[in-house]
Amino acid sequence: MNRIKINLDKKISRSYDLYIGKDIQDRATLLIARGNWAKRYFLITDTNVSDLYGSRVLDTFRSMGMPVEMITFPAGEASKTIHTAVAVAEELLGRGADRTSGLIALGGGVVGDLTGFIASIFMRGIPYLQFPTTLMAQVDSSIGGKTGVDLPMAKNMLGTFCQPKAVFTDVGFLKTLPVAEYMNGLAEIVKCAIIDDPGLLDLLEEQAVLLMNVGEPEPWVPIVTRACEIKKKIVEIDEKEQGLRRILNFGHTLGHAVEAEADYAIPHGEAVSMGMAGALNLSEKLGHLPVSDRERIMGFLQKAGLPVRIPGGLSTEGVISRMQRDKKKEGKVVHFVLLRRPGMPFVNGGVPESLIRETIEGLKR
Ligand SMILES: NC(=O)c1ccc[n+]([C@@H]2O[C@H](COP(=O)([O-])OP(=O)(O)OC[C@H]3O[C@@H](n4cnc5c(N)ncnc54)[C@H](O)[C@@H]3O)[C@@H](O)[C@H]2O)c1
Ligand SMILES: [Zn+2]
Repeated sequence: MNRIKINLDKKISRSYDLYIGKDIQDRATLLIARGNWAKRYFLITDTNVSDLYGSRVLDTFRSMGMPVEMITFPAGEASKTIHTAVAVAEELLGRGADRTSGLIALGGGVVGDLTGFIASIFMRGIPYLQFPTTLMAQVDSSIGGKTGVDLPMAKNMLGTFCQPKAVFTDVGFLKTLPVAEYMNGLAEIVKCAIIDDPGLLDLLEEQAVLLMNVGEPEPWVPIVTRACEIKKKIVEIDEKEQGLRRILNFGHTLGHAVEAEADYAIPHGEAVSMGMAGALNLSEKLGHLPVSDRERIMGFLQKAGLPVRIPGGLSTEGVISRMQRDKKKEGKVVHFVLLRRPGMPFVNGGVPESLIRETIEGLKR
């Protein structure tokens, strides 16, 4: 089992450990008992994960004498709302939860974001732990303490920064993950590799066959660990996304806009992959990135089965105006994370709109 320590603001009380391994449930339970963060725990999960793992996880906790109960909500992004948060909070109160209780998020990013959000506001804040079960949650959403729910007009509009007490990343959960969900996580891993660790691209390329053997997720341990180390490093330096953390948005400025313009019919990872293709093209057009680097990474995305073309039917003007409305933009300027070389990203606020238009049109052909 690998351990990564997340150190925040040099305040020991808010630092925590992230454990990564395969089939680590028993050891996780011991660590939770030893952590003594709460007297009683509520396992929060969605219907899919509860069907697959709910009773097994509950049994492991209970067999070690941990008082734990499960609360489930319907799987899917549509559940990531303030209404679900209220329903879960009412259920918690009804079952007698108080300030000495803790939450355990068992699931993908939806469960993690929602559970963290509830934990940050229930009785002005109670502790929570994460058991991420999708590749995306393991390498991305479970690290960094961003919690939240969606509003009908935009995603993640209500939220908090609230760090968990510990994260237990068990790649054993990936055995049942649908291939499309693997692709979502893979896109974020490729993003991390591009912005900080080009050697990870080589590793992904070398191990491609092993990694896609869905029944045996062990080879993901070193990959997930390396991606987590990258996100950890960035989050530690810039917890509240004021500067450096923005480089994690590589591929996301255009990706989010494509996702929203397609009414979320395009999965996040695919949209981010298209967004990365856009950022690579812009970087090259602006004279920052050598053609050979752009071609190598584009080739890699395609080999990995990630799309680099934007669907022709999507409105270019619609995509552009979505980018201008993104909550991360300052004033009217759209900020792009661009690349000088693999591992050398920078934030650029001065990309001419005409070039953005040309890039999107180019990706459609
Ligand atoms: N907090 C952050 O920093 C951050 C970062 C990125 C994304 N997010 C959020 O994460 C969410 C997306 O997360 P996601 O991609 O994990 O989606 P998700 O939580 O909806 O999970 C995807 C699907 O996989 C199922 N599932 C989960 N684990 C499984 C397993 N082991 N086996 C089989 N099926 C399983 C789920 O029930 C769901 O149907 C979005 O709401 C996004 O905003 C947050
Ligand atoms: Zn993302």
